[in-house]
Amino acid sequence: MTAAVASTTCRCRSGGQTGDDPLSAILATCSGERPELVAVLQQAQDALGYLSAETIRRIARRLRLSESDVFGVATFYAEFRFSPPGRHRLRVCLGTACHVKGGVQMMQTIERRLGVGAGETTPDGEYEVERVACLGCCALAPVITLDDQIHGQMNVIELQSLLDARTDD
Ligand code: FES
Repeated sequence: MTAAVASTTCRCRSGGQTGDDPLSAILATCSGERPELVAVLQQAQDALGYLSAETIRRIARRLRLSESDVFGVATFYAEFRFSPPGRHRLRVCLGTACHVKGGVQMMQTIERRLGVGAGETTPDGEYEVERVACLGCCALAPVITLDDQIHGQMNVIELQSLLDARTDD
């Protein structure tokens, strides 16, 4: 009679080598099929904070996809980011009400001032900039948030002052 042995063998091709690398652990638990791609991307971002080029490359290899396939799927979803999170989160609403009342000018001001656009983080890691569809306070349009604090009825001068004050901290 053969005794049943609980299997601890990894189903992936990593050979069970997960080390301290969270991505290795994530890739080790997936079966390597394309339908898992979005879930793997979500887990990787949760664990690492963003999807780096190296992360995309490793996921592509594990799921036997091209890097451009993986990147194409990731960029389709607004939830994925491709640069590290900044110390301060700056969100600009470009929903209809905010767009009509000057949201685009707010974003342009931020781009000029910080040198980065939506989905990017300043090289010094100070700010991450995000574009959002509505912050739920349209009567205050145009609206931005800085570290989850809402700033409504913004104009370019107030936005500059806000960034100046933060710079002086
Ligand atoms: S559209 Fe900007 S808060 Fe609603």
